[in-house]
Amino acid sequence: MASEPVNVNEFQELAKKALPKMYYDFYNGGAEDQYTLKQNIEAFRRITLRPRVLVDVSRIDMSTTLLGYKISAPILIAPTAMHQLAHPEGEKATARAAAACNTIMVLSFTSTCTIEEVASSCNAVRLFQLYVYKQRDVSAELVKRAERYGFKAIVLTVDTPKFGRREADVKNKMIAPIIKNLEGLLKIEVDSDDGSNLEAYANRTNDASLCWKDIEWLRSITSLPILVKGILTHEDARKAIEAGVNGIVVSNHGGRQLDYAPPTISVLEEVVHAVGGKVPVLVDGGVRRGTDVFKALALGAQAVLVGRPVLYGLAAMGESGVRTVIEMLKKELELTMALSGCPNLRDIKRSHVMTHHERLH
Ligand code: FNR
Repeated sequence: MASEPVNVNEFQELAKKALPKMYYDFYNGGAEDQYTLKQNIEAFRRITLRPRVLVDVSRIDMSTTLLGYKISAPILIAPTAMHQLAHPEGEKATARAAAACNTIMVLSFTSTCTIEEVASSCNAVRLFQLYVYKQRDVSAELVKRAERYGFKAIVLTVDTPKFGRREADVKNKMIAPIIKNLEGLLKIEVDSDDGSNLEAYANRTNDASLCWKDIEWLRSITSLPILVKGILTHEDARKAIEAGVNGIVVSNHGGRQLDYAPPTISVLEEVVHAVGGKVPVLVDGGVRRGTDVFKALALGAQAVLVGRPVLYGLAAMGESGVRTVIEMLKKELELTMALSGCPNLRDIKRSHVMTHHERLH
């Protein structure tokens, strides 16, 4: 590509060129048939817009408040593992980009920079994503460190009792994770002859017995707000509310865990209705355009998170690549709002979108 990238898909092409195959496949891939991975994007495409005209859109305000923090737009950085595979500055670069864009970064438990390094590299509002290990004291220690270093909430990922089967990683014999936060805390050697070392590592560490009552355990070790990430049904949304969580992320882990789980945008409304405004509902999976952000907001999300687009930006151009990706999505959202007759986020209503199902009736 001779010219500068103009959209997220072009960043993906640049990332593919920049990265060794093993790492690109790791970032890009999904579980098994990759049905859910593809449908996350396709389901957004099946939703069309119902624009309203002759509204004064000379000033567009995309700013919003989440968990009490004002951000420039409802587009957050999802937790994704091992940013140093994309760029030597890793999560520090991503966090600086989040600060420059005035948005929130969720730092992955599986990060290649430490909590302390990320905290001291910028003043972005940061949340910490948690995996609960069989050795719970290890997870508890990281929660305490995140709290001490100014992270504002814990995002408990609940869709990973076992690791999804990502066949590209199996074939590539993907490396075991480099989790800098665990240095001196936990040492696990894996040497899988016949598959993904990452999968072997995760299946040895992750606590598959984690269940709803453990939210209480988490609450007992931190005073931070707790969000659960990986809810896909109204049943679980209700359970999460009963468990007293402070927010819900509708997510299928970017199609990397249970294949044939529904595309997130298709179940967002069901979760939003069950939650009934009691806590914020966020969504991730397949957001590649400002129009996708608009669709998610129209269907009731407070904000979206983006995973792979950030990794593409980081791999292609480091911190400035991440910044450009977020700013592109913001510009696209701004234009969508203007062309749909919505000067403020609160003007974006359910009536601004039409789902595939509605078009058939
Ligand atoms: C992820 N995701 C993820 N989620 C999580 O809770 N902890 C993690 O460490 C990771 N790691 C991770 C690595 C990579 C390479 C990807 C692509 C994803 C899932 C992530 O938070 C998010 O749910 C999806 O990435 C959203 O889908 P999109 O935006 O990538 O389509």
